[in-house]
Amino acid sequence: RYPVICIDGPSGAGKGTAAWRLAKTLGYQLLDSGALYRIVGLKAFEAGLISADTQQQPINETALLELTKSLHIAFEPNHDSGRVDIIVNGDIIGEQVRNETVGGYASQIAVFPQVRQALLKLQQDMATRSGLIADGRDMGTVVFPDADVKVFLTASAEARAQRRVTQLITAGQTADFDAILETIKVRDDRDENRTTAPSKPAEDALLIDSSTLDADTVYQRIKEHCQA
Ligand code: CDP
Repeated sequence: RYPVICIDGPSGAGKGTAAWRLAKTLGYQLLDSGALYRIVGLKAFEAGLISADTQQQPINETALLELTKSLHIAFEPNHDSGRVDIIVNGDIIGEQVRNETVGGYASQIAVFPQVRQALLKLQQDMATRSGLIADGRDMGTVVFPDADVKVFLTASAEARAQRRVTQLITAGQTADFDAILETIKVRDDRDENRTTAPSKPAEDALLIDSSTLDADTVYQRIKEHCQA
């Protein structure tokens, strides 16, 4: 297989930016594993299998698994958006999966071991075609345990919420810091405390706390670690 560099960590720690830049520099493919969970989350919501209210009745796991298996998912780099386009059953899924609502759906369906299992091979297969930058929560622990490089990028919830506020305001939208902080904490809590593939650093991962670092410094540290 080809070299694999894993960048794991919670929402808003800066994984996406660092992963994209590294993929471009090294000429590697980018696996945006969160996008897979987002797609399944969105489709599950559209199919009425989950709701925004997480206190809802139990999820129909059989139907959720069937739905996951029915999706044919592929990735293509989009150099205009600086993201990877996701092609699901032949259709390009645009930015509609990138919002926090869909992030919440993703973390709801991500707790199911069978859903994770159904997405495993697709992710691992990406390392059979070229070098890979794998961005997610369990890249270094579950999907690529023998990866060449593992980084766990984190930051305080407050720093991550502040970045999100700045992003939204720059995009001309309104932003409520306290509401965003609360949403981040709910998703962290669900991701870190699930029994299957909880979000946590692999034992051999380099930990980087980006709370007080800018994106360029984070990128340089990861790149140096790759060369070490
Ligand atoms: O972009 P952001 O970091 O906010 O989220 P994401 O990486 O797109 O992931 C969305 C959600 O999918 C996470 O909160 C996790 O619940 C789930 N996920 C996962 O369980 N395992 C992964 N490897 C990637 C994402």
